[in-house]
Amino acid sequence: MTNTGATPYEQLGGDDAVRRLVDAFYDHMDQDPEYALIRDLHPPTLAGSREKLYLFLSGWLGGPPLYIQRHGHPRLRARHLPFSIGARERDQWLACMTRALDDVGVEGELRALLDGQFMKVADFMRNREEHASPEARASWLSRLLTRR
Ligand code: HEM
Repeated sequence: MTNTGATPYEQLGGDDAVRRLVDAFYDHMDQDPEYALIRDLHPPTLAGSREKLYLFLSGWLGGPPLYIQRHGHPRLRARHLPFSIGARERDQWLACMTRALDDVGVEGELRALLDGQFMKVADFMRNREEHASPEARASWLSRLLTRR
């Protein structure tokens, strides 16, 4: 996939591709015990979570602003405050998204862009005080800085 001036939404493949990405994301979260920490924060049935992330990503990627049309401003950080989110939760969320992006076959410039943007939003969602080791902090920073 090369950058042709199209929105990330169009480059990804539009509505169907956003659905596939979200389904793959939640399938990994639901099926792999490695992500139990964040799976347990979610409701027993993930249908509602899938729908909300799909609506949100549609607009966030530059497509139709479906989430805003139905629910108003996302206030994403405020909506995550009821859940305790630290570095481990952030990294599990990003791991599910990395695997979903692999499944959908997102590569090249679009992949680099999305990896970087997801890292920023996920990090912004942290709401728990933590005392990360200097090694853990350095490793996160170097991951972030090698993205855009
Ligand atoms: C950093 C780790 C994250 C954790 C542990 C987490 C966890 C959760 C949980 C437990 C919910 C509630 C699910 C439900 O009501 O069905 C939720 C909702 C949501 N999350 Fe996350 N999330 C994270 C990051 C993100 C990121 C990076 C995004 C966007 C790129 C995002 C987008 C959303 C959206 C759009 C909703 C629905 C909000 C609503 O309308 O209530 N989340 N998240």
